[in-house]
This record gives sequence, C-alpha cells and structure tokens, in this order.
Amino acid sequence: MFVCLGNICRSPLAEAIFKRQVADLDLSDKIKCDSSGTSNYHIGEDPDHRTVTNALKNGLRLDHKGQQFKVEHFALYDYIIAMDQSNLEDILLLQEAHRAYEFGLMKMRQFDNLGKGSDVPDPYFGGPQGFQHVFEILDRCNKHFLDYLIKKHALIQ
Ligand code: 4NP
Repeated sequence: MFVCLGNICRSPLAEAIFKRQVADLDLSDKIKCDSSGTSNYHIGEDPDHRTVTNALKNGLRLDHKGQQFKVEHFALYDYIIAMDQSNLEDILLLQEAHRAYEFGLMKMRQFDNLGKGSDVPDPYFGGPQGFQHVFEILDRCNKHFLDYLIKKHALIQ
C-alpha cells in the first residue's frame, strides 16, 4: 500500500509505476498493490490532472480513485510505503490509536540510491517540473523496492 497525503499525486503514481514494473517481470499474480492518502481531502476523485498529464508523457495511464488510508489496511498489506515523514508519522499514530496489527512500514526513499531516506517531495503546490521529478524518484525507488521483494520472498527462481 503506497500512502501520501491526498492520494491524487504521489501515491497513485507510485502504484501505477509499480504495477507496470511488476507486470514487466510477469509477477502480477504474486504482487498486488494499491494506494491511499492519510487525509480525506480527495476521496473518490481522479488523480490530479498534472499527475495524469505527466504520467501519460511517460507512457503510463492512471486508473485510480482517491481513498483514505484506514485501520483495516494494516491487516491487508504486507508493506505500507509512506511517501514522506509526515505520512509515516500519521500512519504510526493510527496504528498506536488502534493497537493495530504489526506491519512493514517503510519510507519510499529508503529504496533510493540518490537521496536515501529523504521525503518524496509533494508536487501539489509547485510547477510542472516537480511532477517529472517525482516520477523519476518513484520509478527509481520502485525498481529497488521490487528487487528487494524478489530477493526477500524468492519470487523469481
Ligand atoms: P499528494 O499531494 O499527497 O501527493 O496526493 C497532495 C494532494 C493534495 C493536497 C496536498 C498534497 N491538498 O492539500 O489538497
């Protein structure tokens, strides 16, 4: 489960990029993913039009409706990947409040060889170049995350 604040910019893009990488390696029957936001700002909405336009420029069509991250998701996903530190802290607060299931919470850029551990910047209030920057970060991180999953779970023999 990829998580950002609004679920209209970063996390639906992370989901779409990851699905394509998973499909390219014929792993779609073994790895499922989704995305959500910590806020309730954009429930039911399509991704931000700037994210959609930028994704199309990179050959990717987004198919997602905004949803809020819920306590039930803890039990449904093996990995919860937060885009930034505030998303991570909001998820932890929810877990503590509900004494929810132990889960694999990570930050997306833990898998980045450039800028390891930092935040995926929120492009919402910036210009179009921010969307391409985010695309490149997510593409890179997801490749490394997928490599990690393949090795950890012996997904390719
Ligand atoms: P996201 O970006 O968390 O990457 O989806 C944002 C989208 C909406 C808002 C903030 C960030 N907002 O304040 O509505």
